[in-house]
Amino acid sequence: MEVIVLPGPDDVARVAADVVADVVRRRPGAVLGLATGSSPVGVYAELARRVTAGELDLTGVSGFALDEYVGLPAGHPESYAAVIARDVTGPLGLDPARVHVPDGRAADLEAAAEAYEQALADAGGVDVQLLGIGANGHIGFNEPTSSFGSRTRLKTLAARTRADNARFFTSPDEVPLHCLTQGLGTILGARRLLLVAQGSAKAEAVAAAVEGPLTSMVPASALQLHPRATVVVDEEAAARLTLLDHYRQVYAAKPDWQRP
Ligand code: F6R
Repeated sequence: MEVIVLPGPDDVARVAADVVADVVRRRPGAVLGLATGSSPVGVYAELARRVTAGELDLTGVSGFALDEYVGLPAGHPESYAAVIARDVTGPLGLDPARVHVPDGRAADLEAAAEAYEQALADAGGVDVQLLGIGANGHIGFNEPTSSFGSRTRLKTLAARTRADNARFFTSPDEVPLHCLTQGLGTILGARRLLLVAQGSAKAEAVAAAVEGPLTSMVPASALQLHPRATVVVDEEAAARLTLLDHYRQVYAAKPDWQRP
């Protein structure tokens, strides 16, 4: 796994946006895996800035969200369908017809999960999957003990996740109990993984994912199984990594031809 440690959140956003932009430059019809939550906000803002400046064209790409809450009313501003439309599809100039979010309002959630897997397969799979990490080590909403082989399915949110995400809702009780999320197996099927983390609240989870044992207790440790996973973190999120100096040396010595 490549670990890139940078001074602050703006640097994380810039370098992660470089990776996404490079994927799209090589493949204008690329399929982007879209995370929600706070972590990727700066990355989307930086991509939007480049689109507005005419430096980047994302009109040909498709997007697949990682997850969606179950049980929110249609049009709820914190549903991931609404968040993706507001923060991603519009600002990045994506074609809304090519941006997909699991259907958390489906009467048959199992069928909705299967349909999502099928849509991903029909699109040819994800070229670069942007990821955040939960303080409990989740990616997507694959909470601790999720199977490394899991596919898109219904999950129950961990109490910690509901508490962490309460900041987006008017009351903690409003945070849904359930979600549809791509599985760890689904995520590992992306051709490239790009995890971003900022701030001290993520330091423990980042260290466990990158340097801890491969364990379903830390779902993000699944990144260790992927041949092309990049973790971009700021100093605070990197604080618990034991090989910090090594990561810094590797990145400083990275050949130009390997940089996006
Ligand atoms: C969001 C998602 C989650 C978040 C994680 C971190 O689509 O799948 O795994 O990335 O909960 O959330 P933030 O970035 O809000 O700290």
